[in-house]
Amino acid sequence: MIISILGTGRVASAIGHGLVKAGHELVFGSRSGHASGLPGRVTSLAEAASVGEVIVNATPGVSALETLKAIGSGPLGAKVLIDVSNAISDGFVLAYPNASVASAIQDEFPAVSVVKTLNTVHAQVMAAPGSLASPSLVFLSGNSPDGKATVSELLADLGWSPDAQVDLGDISTARATEHYIFFSSALTQAIGSTQWNLAVVE
Ligand SMILES: NC(=O)c1ccc[n+]([C@@H]2O[C@H](COP(=O)([O-])OP(=O)(O)OC[C@H]3O[C@@H](n4cnc5c(N)ncnc54)[C@H](OP(=O)(O)O)[C@@H]3O)[C@@H](O)[C@H]2O)c1
Repeated sequence: MIISILGTGRVASAIGHGLVKAGHELVFGSRSGHASGLPGRVTSLAEAASVGEVIVNATPGVSALETLKAIGSGPLGAKVLIDVSNAISDGFVLAYPNASVASAIQDEFPAVSVVKTLNTVHAQVMAAPGSLASPSLVFLSGNSPDGKATVSELLADLGWSPDAQVDLGDISTARATEHYIFFSSALTQAIGSTQWNLAVVE
C-alpha cells in the first residue's frame, strides 16, 4: 500500500521505517519538501496527501487542522486518515480543551475516515512494541468500522497484535487519549524514561 506521512520528525521516521519494513511504500509530506534519513520520497504536503492511499498526520496537533485545510479536501478525498497528533502547545495548553483535534478534523472533512491511534505511545515504541518487557496496549477511535479495520491491519504490521489493540469507540473518544498527554508526560518525567507504554491489569 502507498502510505503518506505528513511530517518529517520523530514520529514520521519511526512509523515510516516500521511500515517500510512491513512492505509498504512511503511518501513523506514536508512544508519545505526536503528532509533526510526517511525511508521514502519527500515532497510537498499536498502532493504527499494526493498519492497516499492512507494518510498519517504526524504534524503538531495545534496546527494540524490548518495544515489539512491548506492541503484541502481534494487530496484527502474519502481516504483513511490516521491521526497520531497531540494538540498541546509548547506551554502545555490544550488546543481543544473540551474536544479533540481528531474530532475537529473529522468535522471539517466528513468524507474522510479519521482514526486516532498511537498518540498515547512514545515514538520509539510505536513501531517496536516488542521492545518492551511485556505486552502493552494501543487504542483506536473512529467513526468508520472499515477505516478502523484498515488501521488495525497497519498497526499489526507495526507489531501490535489484535490483542494489543483496544477499540475505544467513535471519534469522540479521541478526547480521552488526547487529554492523557498530561498524565503521560508526568509519568515520563517521574520514571525518567520514554521506553514504556500502558497495559491494563484486570
Ligand atoms: N514524539 C513522540 O513520542 C510522540 C508521541 C505521540 C504523539 N506524538 C505526536 O505526533 C506528532 C509529531 O510528533 P514528533 O515528535 O514527530 O514531532 P517533530 O519531531 O517536531 O516533527 C513534527 C514534524 O511536523 C512538521 N511540522 C512542524 N510544524 C508544522 C506546521 N506548523 N505545519 C505543518 N507541519 C509542521 C515538521 O516537518 P517539516 O518541517 O518537514 O514540515 C516536523 O518534522 C505531534 O502531534 C506529537 O504530539 C509524538
